[in-house]
This record gives sequence, C-alpha cells and structure tokens, in this order.
Amino acid sequence: MSKFIISKSPALSGKVEISGAKNAVLPILCACLLTEKECILNSVPPLMDVYAMMDILKSLGVKVDYDNVKQVARIKAEKVSKTKEEYEMAGKLRASFLVMGPLLARRQKAKLPLPGGCQIGTRPVDLHIKGFTALGAKIKQEHGFVMAKCRRLTGTHIYLDFPSVGATENILMAAVMADGVTVIENAAVEPEIVDLAEFLNKMGAKITDYGKSTITIKGVKNLKGAKHTVIPDRIEAGTFMVAAAITGGDILLTNAVPDHLGAITSKLKEANVEIEELSRGIRVCAKGELLAFDLKTMPFPGFPTDLQAVFMSLSTVAKGTSVITETVFENRFLHAGELIRMGAEIKTDGRIAVVDGVKKLTATQVKATDLRAGAALVLAAMVAEGETEISDIFHVDRGYCLLEEKLINLGAQIRREE
Ligand code: EPZ
Repeated sequence: MSKFIISKSPALSGKVEISGAKNAVLPILCACLLTEKECILNSVPPLMDVYAMMDILKSLGVKVDYDNVKQVARIKAEKVSKTKEEYEMAGKLRASFLVMGPLLARRQKAKLPLPGGCQIGTRPVDLHIKGFTALGAKIKQEHGFVMAKCRRLTGTHIYLDFPSVGATENILMAAVMADGVTVIENAAVEPEIVDLAEFLNKMGAKITDYGKSTITIKGVKNLKGAKHTVIPDRIEAGTFMVAAAITGGDILLTNAVPDHLGAITSKLKEANVEIEELSRGIRVCAKGELLAFDLKTMPFPGFPTDLQAVFMSLSTVAKGTSVITETVFENRFLHAGELIRMGAEIKTDGRIAVVDGVKKLTATQVKATDLRAGAALVLAAMVAEGETEISDIFHVDRGYCLLEEKLINLGAQIRREE
C-alpha cells in the first residue's frame, strides 16, 4: 500500500492551479444518464472517485471516453441497458447512490446497494428516498438493496428536514423530466448544487432559484446533450490555503473562486493570515504568528465540514486554544488521534474538539483514516520535526488530484513510496 514520506517543509511559495471539483463532477457525471445525446465535460479531475463513477456508468451501458491529461470526458448514454449497480462497484463510492434519480427519470426503475456508513458517520439516505416517494416512486429496501420504480414521476412539493447535498442533487435529477412542477424546500445551496443545476439547464431543464433554499423545477419532456466546465474544487483550494498558512508561506491560487471560500478566508484572517483577492487569483500570505480560532462546521455558506480536519491541523500549532465543533457528521474527528501522535494537544468530546496550540509537532508514522483526514496529516507533517510516514494514502487519492506534484512545486518535501 503506498504511503507519503514528508519532511519539514520550507515556507511554501509560488502558484497552484486548483483542479475541477470532485463533489461537482460526481453528480454531473450521473446527470449525463438523463439524455441519449453526448455530453462533453471539461476540468474533470483524474481522481479515484471519478474513475469509480465512470466505471459505474459503463456498467449501466453508458459510453465513456476520458482524456485524463486534457481532463475532458465525453459521456453518451445512448441507451441505458442496465438499471442495477453491482455491490462491489457501488461500494467503492457512496456517491454511486446519485444514479438513482437519473435512472428513475430515464428508465423508471433502479436497483442500487444501500450505501453503507463510512468512517465519518452512518450516512443515511432517508431524505433521498423521501423525495423519490413524494415524486411517485415505489421504494422497497431488502437484502441491502434499494429497489425503486415508477410509471412516471409527478412534480410535487418536497421539504428536506436537513439541507442534504446528496438528497438535493438526487431529487433535482429525478424532477427535471417529471410531469409538472417540483419545489424543493430547505434545499442545499452549496456551489456544487449550483454547478449541477447550471449543467442540467444547459441540457434543457427548467430549474430556477438554485443556490437558494427553495428550488423550483418545471418538468420537461426530454433533455439534450451539453458542454460544461466543472467549477474549481473549493475544498482543494482551502487545503492549499492552509498549507500556505501552516508553513508561513506566500502562495497564489490561480483559479479559486472567492465567493466559494468566504468562510475559509474569514477564518484564516482570524488566524492572522493575510488573504488578498487579486484579478489573477487568491494570494495567501502567512508571515505573522498563527493565532487560535474557534470554528463550527455548517452547511454552505457556513464553514465546510470537509475542511474541518485541515483547520484542526492548523490549530495544533497556532498560539492559544481553539474550539472546533463538527455539526454535520457524527464522527469526523478521527484525525485527532493521529495528530496527537505527532505531539498535538487535543481533547475531543462528541462533536467538540479543544486544541491547545503547541510550539512544535514531531514526525512519526500515522495513518490516513479518510479523505480529508489524510490531507490534514499531510499538512501537519509539513511542519513536524523529522520525517513523517503517512500510510493508507489511497484515501487521499480519492479526492486530491496530483497532490504531491502540486505541493512539490510549492517547495514541499514530500514523496510517494509504493
Ligand atoms: C456531500 O456528502 C459531500 N460528498 C461530502 O464530501 C460533504 O462532506 C457533504 O456533502 C456535506 O457538505 C459529495 O458531494 C460526493 P449530506 P452527502 O447529504 O451528500 C445527513 C468529501 O470529503 N443526511 O449533505 O452525503 C447525513 O447523515 C465528502 O468530499 C441524512 O440524515 O452529505 C449528514 O449528517 C465527505 N439523511 C448530513 O445530512 C439523508 O438522506 C450531511 O449529509 C442524507 C443526509
């Protein structure tokens, strides 16, 4: 199993180009099931999760051509010969459940493995199922599978008890060809929802007020192919902003979107990091002493849960005590134990972590427990005394594109060992 070997890094400097967003491209790939015409997607990052989603589409009979150098994907679901996902394939990717909406809209049936939990929580899909049922689908769950079928989906009013990103995306994709109008109330408003809705509207869907908490969808008869460029990954951008902060560096993110990063920018300024929004990108300069901060994860535009781990790494070497509250997932502090092994002073109790900043971290062997925890350990290793070894970095490869190359270009001392 490959691992990262990371030594204490000089202050990062230079510029980095942020890749297409994993959490935008995954639902957009599923949306290509809604038309028999070809869709062309740009800025598709060569991530393990993207390959896994492409394999799922191919298993359903979809034609997929992907140039991982140009990062362009051509997807053509001329016919969807299968409506069942195999357990092994779906099990690699929780987002595999996002084909349920498009399959109901296109083929009026679907049989998908009920996604299991993962390290960060039980990850239920009850809100997805509530939406499909409201649209007229008949749902049965047995033997670990969710079977859904319908004669025709009919527009309706759906209230989400929690602004779930995945449920909003799945219901959106089911509703675009339903009979009549669908209203989703308390919908997620993340940038990835906006990107999906913009792609669907390019295909001929009639979605209004996306990006707001009440979205309206007027069903259409069918959708056509479309071209789309995926938005930059705000979580990757935030990760590099913290990499600059934790090493006392000065870097430029050439294509990050400031509007997607409001909570991150605000929190870094609290930590005494300078952020400049320039025409050529976002500059992050950390020349002063890092200061402790409190943070609470919330749905967008609140502080994103996917950056909680990397900000915890930052807090371990900031002056003072930081209080971190994780409100979105029930078990997302697994990285704390690994950071403690590096000399961090962290106490966790349920969804709250209290971090007392220390003068230095020390290198040791640690393990990535999930995608974002792995990134947090990479950043911590870049300021630890000595040479840190991070194992199970397949987690990191799921969501970070060419991470070590980009970090090396900024001056980091990191290498991959198979
Ligand atoms: C998406 O997951 C992202 N994944 C996650 O990123 C991200 O952390 C999360 O949104 C929150 O922003 C993708 O987009 C592929 P949710 P998703 O439905 O859709 C509860 C990463 O690291 N819930 O908004 O699964 C759920 O238990 C990953 O890139 C229900 O109760 O997130 C959780 O507590 C990790 N019932 C909360 O909502 C449901 O039916 C947020 O889940 C659905 C969700």
